[in-house]
Amino acid sequence: MRVNPFLLLFHNVAFVSGLSYQLASTVPWTPKNATSVDQGAVYNGTYYLADRTNSVVHVVDLATSKEKTSITGFIGQRFTKNKTDSSISGPDGLVVLPDRNELYIGDGDGSVKVVDLFKNTIIANISTGSKKRADEFAYNPQTQTIVVTSPNDVPPFVTVISASQRKVLGSIAFKNASGLEQPAWNPTNGKFYVSVPSTDANPGGEIAEIDVSAMAIAKVTPLSECVPAGIVFGPQENLFVACSQDQILTYGTAFSQVLDMSTGKVLANISGIAGVDQVAYNPTTMLYYASAYQNLAGGSKTGAPSPEVGIIDAKTYTLIQTLKTDNVTAHSVAIDTSSNQMVIPLTHSGIALYSLSTANATSGNTSSTATATHASSSATKTSGGVSNYARFSIYYLSALILGVGFLG
Ligand SMILES: *[C@@H]1O[C@H](CO)[C@@H](O)[C@H](O)[C@H]1NC(C)=O
Ligand SMILES: *[C@@H]1O[C@H](CO)[C@@H](O)[C@H](O)[C@H]1NC(C)=O
Ligand SMILES: *[C@@H]1O[C@H](CO)[C@@H](O)[C@H](O)[C@H]1NC(C)=O
Ligand SMILES: *[C@@H]1O[C@H](CO)[C@@H](O)[C@H](O)[C@H]1NC(C)=O
Ligand SMILES: *[C@@H]1O[C@H](CO)[C@@H](O)[C@H](O)[C@H]1NC(C)=O
Ligand SMILES: *[C@@H]1O[C@H](CO)[C@@H](O)[C@H](O)[C@H]1NC(C)=O
Ligand SMILES: *[C@@H]1O[C@H](CO)[C@@H](O)[C@H](O)[C@H]1NC(C)=O
Ligand SMILES: *[C@@H]1O[C@H](CO)[C@@H](O)[C@H](O)[C@H]1NC(C)=O
Ligand SMILES: *[C@@H]1O[C@H](CO)[C@@H](O)[C@H](O)[C@H]1NC(C)=O
Repeated sequence: MRVNPFLLLFHNVAFVSGLSYQLASTVPWTPKNATSVDQGAVYNGTYYLADRTNSVVHVVDLATSKEKTSITGFIGQRFTKNKTDSSISGPDGLVVLPDRNELYIGDGDGSVKVVDLFKNTIIANISTGSKKRADEFAYNPQTQTIVVTSPNDVPPFVTVISASQRKVLGSIAFKNASGLEQPAWNPTNGKFYVSVPSTDANPGGEIAEIDVSAMAIAKVTPLSECVPAGIVFGPQENLFVACSQDQILTYGTAFSQVLDMSTGKVLANISGIAGVDQVAYNPTTMLYYASAYQNLAGGSKTGAPSPEVGIIDAKTYTLIQTLKTDNVTAHSVAIDTSSNQMVIPLTHSGIALYSLSTANATSGNTSSTATATHASSSATKTSGGVSNYARFSIYYLSALILGVGFLG
């Protein structure tokens, strides 16, 4: 197993006070300013963004902040009654298959495009059978299995694809579900999970565990007042579940959640983070990132649009930073786990690269740093985060000193 030095530094170490993200550079939109994009991902220091307006996937080198090339061959931004219709537009969701150096991307006609990441060209086109978009993905590298959602069909369904054979193995329907959101793969138990915004039985949403050999829903974990969108696995079997704008509109509240999927229990509610679409986890820094682009002030349906990205400590479930974004294209967030850069597409400026700064972590009194206060915490904690915090605070200072060398 390859050991990431950052992982060693931060593993089981309480979050280093003073770390924060700052805008570092912006890559202009080419050729046109985008008004409709979907997911982003980082692999090998390269950022990939699905851009419907330009019908491409942008390929951006994060070290130089330059667009290297773009991948063509997608449906593009489609309109119904002069309004963007994302249900038939593409490219949409995407996932990198690192062991195969491939990118799988959903398109607006229900097809899944396979890209060779050495050539940046489409090498296969796999049909899900839907006429509407193929959307979000999860990948199991152990069995080379892909799961992709078709959220706009009735009923919505997921398609299971063999990446080695580039062949559809089957599909699983979600009766009575209003759409589908992000699937995720749990490396601890080898199972796939799907974020289901709302069903007849669970109007606040559910996390469905699926069995891809039986092509069936195996188990459901109901959520209370969430209407989830993005999900991502963090440490252990913790699942960060981001709640959508429908949570605010339906329940007049704004929070996201961390669940322990080994028990199905809610570990924490992170207050103030809602209206989210894509989420990411960085194991190096042990942070979650939530694109809360449809957040409304005060968690109120009459609140002013307050689009932001939220950065959450995965050990203490604490919201440590928010940065203003926009409510159009900023529903995507991606992380480079080597450089710790965060990337968000901003409609008025371009693809924004943020870097992690340790500016204040070196200054001042080390013992006061070691008992760090967390900015604007409104998370409801359970014992897990707190005990880790105490147990590993002994490593805190070394992480701080070494961390500056690596992160500076
Ligand atoms: C560092 O601390 C100063 C003063 O407390 C604050 O204004 C600044 O935003 C901090 N910078 C970072 C990167 O946390
Ligand atoms: C659609 O937009 C075009 C260009 O903005 C405009 O000319 C046309 O009238 C619009 N059509 C409808 C049905 O709104
Ligand atoms: C990504 O990096 C790995 C490890 O260095 C390398 O084996 C692989 O070829 C790279 N893939 C691409 C598409 O650059
Ligand atoms: C890809 O597959 C879809 C069927 O899902 C088909 O309609 C489309 O024409 C194909 N595209 C290409 C470029 O072959
Ligand atoms: C739920 O699904 C069942 C079976 O597909 C269907 O008969 C029923 O009408 C659905 N209910 C709603 C509210 O869509
Ligand atoms: C999180 O919020 C939900 C919905 O309001 C509530 O039922 C649950 O008890 C909360 N859980 C924790 C751990 O705070
Ligand atoms: C996005 O924000 C702008 C500016 O606050 C607002 O005028 C607009 O209605 C918002 N759009 C949506 C879809 O929320
Ligand atoms: C694109 O966005 C840039 C930056 O906001 C702006 O200067 C430029 O005028 C825009 N171009 C078009 C064609 O709208
Ligand atoms: C460092 O901070 C601790 C705790 O806040 C305080 O007790 C100690 O006096 C400080 N030391 C110095 C040199 O400022």
